Amino acid sequence: MSTFNMRNITTLLLFLVFLITATTTTRCNAGFLQKKAHIHIINNLDSGLTLTVHCKSKNSDLGAQVLPPNASWEFHFRPNFWGTTLFFCSMNWQGASKYTDIYVQNRDQPKCSVCYWSIKQSGPCMLNYGNNKYDICYPWNKY
Ligand SMILES: *[C@@H]1O[C@H](CO)[C@@H](O)[C@H](O)[C@H]1NC(C)=O
Repeated sequence: MSTFNMRNITTLLLFLVFLITATTTTRCNAGFLQKKAHIHIINNLDSGLTLTVHCKSKNSDLGAQVLPPNASWEFHFRPNFWGTTLFFCSMNWQGASKYTDIYVQNRDQPKCSVCYWSIKQSGPCMLNYGNNKYDICYPWNKY
């Protein structure tokens, strides 16, 4: 029947339009892929304390990591196109429980794609590539 054929042709055309759109969109998104970020966390607590780090984002839970004195741990991810990637961590050692935002994309992406954090009792400090010192420090999060 001719109406049936017309419908088939319309369906085929719509499918082709969809296919072309999908392919183009995929290619465009690939062009907007962000450079991966690598986050290194180093236990620089005084008194030889063990640090337990537990980091999460909205979509992922990286699990608890136990860092002996002076040990480090790394994780990586691809920041999102919108600049809203956020990873936060709990940091626990004997007698203390703290929180910090370890990656705030609009704050940190301009500073590093390989980011180093030194964790001390006083708070987290990020490596400053300008002077090679851990002097980009933040207070622990307030609840
Ligand atoms: C950790 O590093 C500090 C500073 O380099 C050093 O004084 C301390 O002995 C180290 N601790 C351990 C357990 O290696």
